[in-house]
Amino acid sequence: MKDIIITGGAGFIGSNLVRAAIEHFTDRRIVNFDKLTYAGNLENLAGLEKHPRYCFIKGDVAEPEDVARAFAGDVEGVMHLAAESHVDRSIHDASPFIKSNVLGTQVLLDAARLKKIHKFVHVSTDEVYGSLGTNGKFTETTPLAANSPYSASKAGSDLLVRAAFHTHKFPGCITRCSNNYGPYQFPEKLVPLLISNALENKPIPVYGDGKNVRDWLFVEDHCAALMRVYESGAPGEVYNIGGDNELENLTLVRTVLRMLGRPESLITFVKDRPGHDRRYAIDASKIRRELNWEPAHKFEDAIRKTIDWYQANPPWWRRVKSGEYREYYEKQYGRAM
Ligand code: NAD
Ligand code: DAU
Repeated sequence: MKDIIITGGAGFIGSNLVRAAIEHFTDRRIVNFDKLTYAGNLENLAGLEKHPRYCFIKGDVAEPEDVARAFAGDVEGVMHLAAESHVDRSIHDASPFIKSNVLGTQVLLDAARLKKIHKFVHVSTDEVYGSLGTNGKFTETTPLAANSPYSASKAGSDLLVRAAFHTHKFPGCITRCSNNYGPYQFPEKLVPLLISNALENKPIPVYGDGKNVRDWLFVEDHCAALMRVYESGAPGEVYNIGGDNELENLTLVRTVLRMLGRPESLITFVKDRPGHDRRYAIDASKIRRELNWEPAHKFEDAIRKTIDWYQANPPWWRRVKSGEYREYYEKQYGRAM
């Protein structure tokens, strides 16, 4: 049986993708290769441990010997999600971002090229395009203009995948997706932080004036798009993925508080993120037209589903919010929060 390696499969999007891929690719083994950083959590995959077509390998994408273990089988392709993913952490310390996101991508590309795999889907982000004014959307030809150490490291990794295609005819595709929300998202990100703090009647930190705009997409729709690109994406191509669902942060926060029956007095304005990108919006017409993908979920239904999941799983987010997370939270927001 052929293997599909999913890197970062113990994280938020990766764990949703591992589940979806096991269902979708019924004649493939799904190899989850993950370093288990603070953001990687095998609880996200509880129940799959004994699945005959699932395998977990602990390792670092930036370590060639670890990566060689992941490539030991008959590898058909790779979906590469492993990365340091939080903008605020990259502002505190960029070095893990450079190691995992930039070096890690090159180590993986080298191993994948030697193995002559059929497809490599590099999961990137709309943040590589920088920030928009009030009008317009990012297309695949928008110039890269990353503004944070995180997005700069992702832009660097995108260029390495592009270079592998141009130099070696390597079968790499790049996807650039907007903000995801859904079950198993680490509560350093806005949506799970908002829901879990609201459930505990704790303050909701909103950066700056709360008018920054993000284009929200349900994680299952992102995973469906990634599998479509894996199966049908053309090597060397970039595909934007987005939900056509722009919301100001404050609107999102107020919507969730209303759905949870919690008061707006929980909203607490805090110091803005340095270099905070004002607006992201994705033009996803290429993947809609060429690969026949579109989001299957409406925002109102999927945010309800997401809220229900966090309400049903306090042990999951309480455990995640202990330990290393507490130290990070104090550093980011101060003791007052
Ligand atoms: P996450 O932080 O929840 O998960 C990242 C996973 O990667 C974790 O399981 C972690 O242990 C693993 N990892 C980190 N460094 C590693 C290394 N050196 N070697 C092996 N594994 C390592 O991230 P996420 O939100 O699920 O994002 C996944 C990918 O999707 C990232 O590449 C991110 O840039 C991209 N992306 C995320 C979003 C979003 O809204 N969350 C949107 C667009 C793109
Ligand atoms: O656009 C895709 C990107 O989306 C991904 O590449 C990143 O991996 C992912 O983390 C996400 O980046 P953002 O910085 O947009 O997401 P975050 O959830 O950190 O913040 C969303 C918005 O909410 C942003 O404008 C900052 C704001 N925010 C965030 C936090 C954590 C707050 O106002 N308060 C907060 O406490």
